[in-house]
Amino acid sequence: MSEVNVVWHEHTVSHQERVALKQQQPVVLWFTGLSGSGKSTIANAVERLLLDKGKHSYLLDGDNVRHGLNKDLGFSDTDRVENIRRIGEVAKLFVDSGSIVLTAFISPFRADRSQVRNLLAEGQFIEVFIDTSLETCESRDPKGLYKKARAGEIKHFTGIDSDYEAPMAPDIHVKTDAMTVEQCAIKVLEYLDVKGYLR
Ligand code: PPS
Repeated sequence: MSEVNVVWHEHTVSHQERVALKQQQPVVLWFTGLSGSGKSTIANAVERLLLDKGKHSYLLDGDNVRHGLNKDLGFSDTDRVENIRRIGEVAKLFVDSGSIVLTAFISPFRADRSQVRNLLAEGQFIEVFIDTSLETCESRDPKGLYKKARAGEIKHFTGIDSDYEAPMAPDIHVKTDAMTVEQCAIKVLEYLDVKGYLR
């Protein structure tokens, strides 16, 4: 539980040397939004566009990570905080490796998202708000989870009986109601391009 008696080991190959191999600036694209908002779908579409441009990326996704690394965590506030803390640390490692990292987690609490931002260097965290109304998410209900939550079969469901704190100043604000998945993905890619991450 503590770093006492554990000494940091400096690596021979530096972050800068790894970055110099690639035509890109490593960064975390942190997608946040309600369940069913389209985080994973849009993040997948962005990753495809990045690959088509020859950019090296990796997508960390809530449902998938909860099958492995975070399989011991549930959906209490405490477990969600730990979920996001671990993902932040993993994302930081991927950034160190030189990747463009996409994360698709509800990440409902502002404090946790801001903690991940603080973990990374300036400009290495981009908050992408996938802004889809609760009504739309609930009407889509792709996994039938809202129905179960309304019936009381799932407790602490985000937007129903667990809070979602929407970003107040996201770096990229994607209002999905009036846009296709492709348009949303292009908006994210254009941001990366304009800000110089794809050079
Ligand atoms: S969190 O809040 O960031 O820790 O959640 P995350 O790791 O992204 O996991 C969200 C996915 O878990 C499923 N699921 C639930 N979501 C919210 N609340 C409750 N109680 C819950 N139980 C299961 C759900 O499929 C979420 O996937 P997405 O892709 O967001 O719909």
